[in-house]
Amino acid sequence: MHWVTSFLLAFATSSDALIRFQCSQLVRERLDPLVSPGLAPSPHVHQIVGGNSFNVTMDPEKDMPGESTCTTCQFSQDFSNYWTAILYFRARNGTYKRVPQIANSGFAGATGGGMTVYYMQDPLYDTAQKSKVTAFKPGFRMFVGDLAARTKAQATRFRQLTYTCLETMGTRDHETVAFPAHPCNTGIMTSLRFPTCWDGINLDSPDHMAHMSYPESGTFESAGPCPASHPVRTSQVMFEVIWDTAQFAHEEWPEDGSQPFVWSFGDATGYANHGDYVFGWKDDSLQKILDQPCYVNCNGTDLGKTQSIADMNKCAGLPEVVHEDIDGWLTELPGGHQASYQ
Ligand SMILES: *[C@@H]1O[C@H](CO)[C@@H](O)[C@H](O)[C@H]1NC(C)=O
Ligand SMILES: *[C@@H]1O[C@H](CO)[C@@H](O)[C@H](O)[C@H]1NC(C)=O
Ligand SMILES: *[C@@H]1O[C@H](CO)[C@@H](O)[C@H](O)[C@H]1NC(C)=O
Repeated sequence: MHWVTSFLLAFATSSDALIRFQCSQLVRERLDPLVSPGLAPSPHVHQIVGGNSFNVTMDPEKDMPGESTCTTCQFSQDFSNYWTAILYFRARNGTYKRVPQIANSGFAGATGGGMTVYYMQDPLYDTAQKSKVTAFKPGFRMFVGDLAARTKAQATRFRQLTYTCLETMGTRDHETVAFPAHPCNTGIMTSLRFPTCWDGINLDSPDHMAHMSYPESGTFESAGPCPASHPVRTSQVMFEVIWDTAQFAHEEWPEDGSQPFVWSFGDATGYANHGDYVFGWKDDSLQKILDQPCYVNCNGTDLGKTQSIADMNKCAGLPEVVHEDIDGWLTELPGGHQASYQ
């Protein structure tokens, strides 16, 4: 029985949390308190999940978790906000229609589809999750991606902002950095993985990225070391968002064979995939979770309170600040954008 004891000891001393949870949609509108604070409307439409203190401006000095009264995420202590642009279908006549979202398998019923959020210490396929990581601090926020990227070279500056052409809900291979070039039976999933090395000092930076870095050599997946400039290893935050592009299968697609989906800011290539994160876990609840041995299904682990999808949905539907039609057949994307490959 000796191996049992050793195993338990090893288990107790390692820090091996990987959590994966769903968040319902809080609101869809043209607001971006990270990149365009104070601007209502901001330049393009987003879909936002998380704490209900999300607003036009989110002062990093303020206590965000303290201001939120609920969250659309499964962990009731997570008042963070997570957001991305939204996808539109472009018809042959040049008009646009918003592509609805669907929740990942197992999370059916989440309002607006929402998104699945991960915090991992090591790659998803590594069930040991042995690396030690530091949770983010109050006021922390970050961005990943480049709105101006229209070529593969520009997009590959970022690791792993990808698309998966879903044959079924379970498809997880053949990720691409451009939009899938052919119809996808079940939809398109975007996966956004944030950098994992923090400078240890700044909660934000002018481009919302410079305070974070990828590993100096290797990758997060290969446990590459963080550079001296950004020595603090954080958990990898990942979003998965599923777009119900299959709804448009009956529509006429472009005659030239090009693909008919476009980001809400006009990118028709897919290379400008990007995401925003504003940390808002209550007190040290995220660090406590990361320090618990737990892998995806965290039943039996003391992770604090979680809520049902019905309760998450009760927090959804934040009153709109910007009033405009984002759902009809539109002659231009909200904010005046047109689909473009450049
Ligand atoms: C959002 O901010 C506006 C002012 O910019 C304020 O009037 C409104 O009450 C805020 N909404 C919430 C939910 O805090
Ligand atoms: C454009 O095409 C869409 C999709 O076929 C259709 O629903 C819409 O009514 C059309 N709009 C105009 C102005 O023809
Ligand atoms: C936790 O366990 C209970 C009872 O076995 C089960 O009903 C529930 O679905 C489990 N939750 C998760 C997230 O696996």
